[in-house]
Amino acid sequence: MLEEITEVGLFETMYNCRAMRKLDTKEVPEEHLIKLVSAANQAPSGSNTQGARWIVVRDPETKVQLAALNKTIVEKYMARFVDNPGSLSHHPADKRQRMYEAVLWQNEHMHEIPALIIACMDFGDKPTPAMIAGGNGSIWPGIQNLLLAARALELGAAPTTLALTNPEAVAKVLNLPDSMHAYCLIPVGYPLGKFGPVTRKPIEEILRFDRWSD
Ligand SMILES: Cc1cc2nc3c(=O)[nH]c(=O)nc-3n(C[C@H](O)[C@H](O)[C@H](O)COP(=O)(O)O)c2cc1C
Repeated sequence: MLEEITEVGLFETMYNCRAMRKLDTKEVPEEHLIKLVSAANQAPSGSNTQGARWIVVRDPETKVQLAALNKTIVEKYMARFVDNPGSLSHHPADKRQRMYEAVLWQNEHMHEIPALIIACMDFGDKPTPAMIAGGNGSIWPGIQNLLLAARALELGAAPTTLALTNPEAVAKVLNLPDSMHAYCLIPVGYPLGKFGPVTRKPIEEILRFDRWSD
């Protein structure tokens, strides 16, 4: 029997859907995992092609292999933000440091996280680089639906792409046919930290009506 979850409003969910990287090892009920993918599956896709495919990885050995792929890239990638704080100048230093630490925590613990959900696209045939690039527009709405659904179920989740940097290695681990490409790996589990509001640029900076002006 699943625990009772109080329904949270859509806007509250959107404004409080932080990337939750520090996750408990406690198992996530399969019903919840199916509900997440079902929410993702409601998202739109270009021409309604519905090419998105979702792999929920719970197998310990497969998680170890995906975590190893993440490890090959994370430390190198994150170092550039630490060495060059100006690269995320809209983040206060303490927030940047917290994100860095959380990314490293996730890197160390990824194999222990209960479920790693991989968002893939099936193109029917081996996709060209242009098709893979175009597929982003049709996979990310589903990923965002999944993240919002996770937040509504009080599950922690975060979109990640670094572990998927080497498509051939990912295809081998996940047994993907040539027609499929993996876009995003979403670790899912119960949060160790607290949920809270996201911090984003003010509306005055990012919105104009009718035409752009400085
Ligand atoms: C396209 C994309 C790729 C991302 N890749 C990673 C990743 O590889 N590893 C990671 O820890 N977070 C990754 N993130 C998460 C972002 O760092 C996070 O959403 C952003 O810092 C905002 O965090 P917040 O919602 O907690 O404020 C990615 C997000 C997006 C949208």
